[in-house]
Amino acid sequence: MSNKTVTVIDNRTNQKYDFPILEPTMGADVVDISTFYQKTGMFTFDRGFTSTASCRSAITYIDGSKGKLMYRGYDISYLATKKTFLDTAYLLLNGELPSKERLEAYCKELKKRSFIHEGMKKLFDAFPDNAHPMAILSAGVSALSTFYFDHLDMDSPDEALEMANRIIAKIPTIAAFSYRYSQGLPVIYPDLNKGFVENFLYMLRGYPHHYIELKPIEIKALDTILTLHADHEQNASTTAVRVVASTRAHPYACISSGINALWGRAHGGANESVVRQLEMIGRVENVEKYIAKAKDPNDPFRLMGFGHRVYKNFDPRATILKNIQKELSEELNLDSELMAVAKKIEEIALNDEYFVSRKLYPNIDFYSGIILRALKIPKEMFAVIFVIGRTPGWISQWIELRNQDNIKIARPRQLYIGPKDRTPKE
Ligand code: SDX
Repeated sequence: MSNKTVTVIDNRTNQKYDFPILEPTMGADVVDISTFYQKTGMFTFDRGFTSTASCRSAITYIDGSKGKLMYRGYDISYLATKKTFLDTAYLLLNGELPSKERLEAYCKELKKRSFIHEGMKKLFDAFPDNAHPMAILSAGVSALSTFYFDHLDMDSPDEALEMANRIIAKIPTIAAFSYRYSQGLPVIYPDLNKGFVENFLYMLRGYPHHYIELKPIEIKALDTILTLHADHEQNASTTAVRVVASTRAHPYACISSGINALWGRAHGGANESVVRQLEMIGRVENVEKYIAKAKDPNDPFRLMGFGHRVYKNFDPRATILKNIQKELSEELNLDSELMAVAKKIEEIALNDEYFVSRKLYPNIDFYSGIILRALKIPKEMFAVIFVIGRTPGWISQWIELRNQDNIKIARPRQLYIGPKDRTPKE
């Protein structure tokens, strides 16, 4: 613990208050203000938590100015190009990359949990055909708690990993089933001879008793996309998971909360919004008009897939996806018109003072949607893909929170701006 402090002076009273500086392994120093109210009688204010560290974490490190992202000390470009999504999920959960044998054992662990209770199918039946898969997925994950009552003691490491494997294994099945129901198609059960990613594509696109050809490049592209989404420090949905977990809520409730938070179009729903926006813009000739709308302070229109709270330089995940797009454009004949519109937006925005001055660069969602579309994944399933990728990260963060000795329930205060006491006197 350093004896370095930050001193705050209240210039109304010249009273000085010292607060300790906490030094990280990497990144910005942190001022511990947990005694601020007790010492000063004042709250701090930080809309959107732009300058607030909510926890200690050893899982993911982001350097927004350098465009750097690491999971457990491994750079994202190493994991996305040299490892698989399941290597990464294992790394996030266990802190170390798996050996070949451990990875095989982990794959088997997930496969045997990939089926869901047949009673869950009645839940899918209850939804109208046009129900958004994210609504079904968050309900489905909550519903798991009514079918699987064991391994809920998250204070036990073994139980926590059992729960983690169960949720990671079942979410792709719930996701694929929800899509098949929405299309009135028969569900395709997990095939235990297939790998994690191949199985998901098979459950999404296959037909009973009919083998479908999945190109290795399709499986590799989706595997990479899931790896790139696996965790991302204390983003909005991870914060939601941690807040709900701090109340000691049910493990399934924590992950379901993360799904609902991710659904927002400012967050994980952006990949679907990007493709809808590209389709709406439609042609390269229309791009300038929409760039003007995005810059107009009186127009709520925003360029989806641009900007990031942390990355004020390029999003390293976007760079990796951009390279994949190039590789795939021939193999998977990516939609050339959509690509041309996206390219034009990028070209203009990256040289326009409005975007440059605000450090608005393309983020992961600007590129992922076009690739997912080429993998024949429907737009309404894009955020679901994000959930499948992010689940190991959410669970790792939640286990980390539970392993901290003094879990405090998340309960911020406020700057009250309402009416003074105006209760009529008796
Ligand atoms: C994800 O946090 C994470 O790590 C998230 C994520 C993860 O892996 O978990 O990385 C995944 O959510 C990526 C982001 C996906 N969302 C989008 O692409 C939606 C479009 N982007 C914006 O909504 C916005 O950029 C955010 C939400 C991503 C970031 O918002 P901030 O940090 O709160 O920034 P801000 O809204 O305060 O904007 C600062 C300025 C404002 O202009 P001024 O008021 O200074 O004049 O930039 C402008 C904004 O109007 N601005 C945009 C813009 N994004 C910000 N203007 C036009 N188009 C945009 N996309």
